[in-house]
Amino acid sequence: MTNSVSVPVRVKDAEILAVEPEEDFVPPYPFRYEKTPPVWTLIGLAKRNFLAIWGLEDFQSRLRSKKIFSRELIVCNRPDVVREAFQTNHEILQRKSPQMRHALEPLLGDGLFISDSETWTKRRKVVAPIIHGSRVKGFAPIMIDTIEEKRIEWAGLGEGAEVDALAEMAHLTAEIISRTIFGRQLGKNYAAEVVEGFSDYQRHINQTDLFSLLGLPEWLPRFRGRAIKNPVKRITSVLDEIIDSYELQKENGEASVIGGLLEARDEDGNPLSRDAIRSEAAVIFMAGHETTANTLAWAWYLLSQSGTARRKLQNELDTVLGGRTPTFADVKNLSFTKAVIEETLRLYPPVPILAREAMANTTIGGKPIAKGSLVLVVPWLMHRNPVLWSKPDVFEPERFLNPKAKKPNKYGYVPFSIGPRICAGLQFGMTEAILSLAILAQKFDLKLKDGTNVQPVARLTLRPGENLPMTLHSR
Ligand code: HEM
Repeated sequence: MTNSVSVPVRVKDAEILAVEPEEDFVPPYPFRYEKTPPVWTLIGLAKRNFLAIWGLEDFQSRLRSKKIFSRELIVCNRPDVVREAFQTNHEILQRKSPQMRHALEPLLGDGLFISDSETWTKRRKVVAPIIHGSRVKGFAPIMIDTIEEKRIEWAGLGEGAEVDALAEMAHLTAEIISRTIFGRQLGKNYAAEVVEGFSDYQRHINQTDLFSLLGLPEWLPRFRGRAIKNPVKRITSVLDEIIDSYELQKENGEASVIGGLLEARDEDGNPLSRDAIRSEAAVIFMAGHETTANTLAWAWYLLSQSGTARRKLQNELDTVLGGRTPTFADVKNLSFTKAVIEETLRLYPPVPILAREAMANTTIGGKPIAKGSLVLVVPWLMHRNPVLWSKPDVFEPERFLNPKAKKPNKYGYVPFSIGPRICAGLQFGMTEAILSLAILAQKFDLKLKDGTNVQPVARLTLRPGENLPMTLHSR
């Protein structure tokens, strides 16, 4: 870490806003059709890329319903109906979609991400405080040291070295989450193995799980061969090994999520079972790794295409940090860096579709919703709804700093979801993303490799394709 002392200076938002943008930069999005194609075409499109199924009207609508065979799909696309669905109607609409549950249950068991009702309520109370915003300050030194390691690694690659920015960010965030969950040393030792297990698992699940979409009964056995069982076994045994060695790690006095889980007690004073601890550790690893990695990869891409945003970012980093490595205390002063992350999450929300299954009959916006219907909030659509945002497809971080910019209330900007099931790692993820961008962009400029065609693709999460070739240039 660099130790030179400098007084933190906050770049005034007015100064940032004063720099004239070059011209509007519209980053890529899939073709939007005007007339809805037949359902089979939609299913074909969805299998390849969930983002490609939406037409112009879907972006502008408030509340739309589609019937896909026997299942009714309702899309909420304005803050008032999102609020009704995810906040007011939480009790009835808290259940994740069957596709999500079936895809993740073998790995996450009854973990927070896919449980509901009594199990979810109990677990949320125990797990959320362990990664809550108030704990992030304690995790920040691990984040900063891990990002510094990446910076040093990049410096060793030399001027103009080519890297896959998507894989680089996935590696960085996996190391960070691994070291915060399992403790610095155990995290370092086991990160690669856990990452491989998760990637292997993801390769074999298919979010579109057509069976469930077509409304086939949930008890119908689905084919899950050795392909799924092997990575699950591997991850389970690594987690068991880590939990067993926790006692040793505790002697070093390190803070870790797994320590928090082992020491947690429910309202009746009971500890979590071994199964529950394994499931929740897997949830936090899965939920907290790829989401942040994709956000950072998209941010590098967007910055590489917008000279104005890049200059403003570098200006803020140079002024606020003066060449010093940021600490947790600097995060609140990096307002443009934060705006870049917020704008990235608006344009390319890592979780582009939030889906729930109605557990009983209800209504949204006066429309009757039958039990078993799928209720969707689609950040990909709502974040680009022209009724809510000005120039919705343009990359413009300043909109998050300018109080006069046209933007919706908190129910219209939901990269972390909203309501009682809001991301439990919101502050963790935001801090991690801001620190990563600050530390790396302070020293490096990343350029997109010539001839690279970047397109957003969504399967489990929204990514810039399979890889993102970029070159490193020191500043
Ligand atoms: C930029 C980074 C992140 C984004 C965009 C993000 C987004 C989300 C979203 C959209 C959900 C709700 C999913 C749904 O309703 O289907 C969620 C849930 C969750 N996230 Fe995050 N997340 C991020 C980082 C993290 C991190 C770093 C952690 C952990 C340290 C984390 C832990 C969780 C957990 C535990 C849940 C389940 C909450 C529940 O169901 O009660 N997330 N996240």
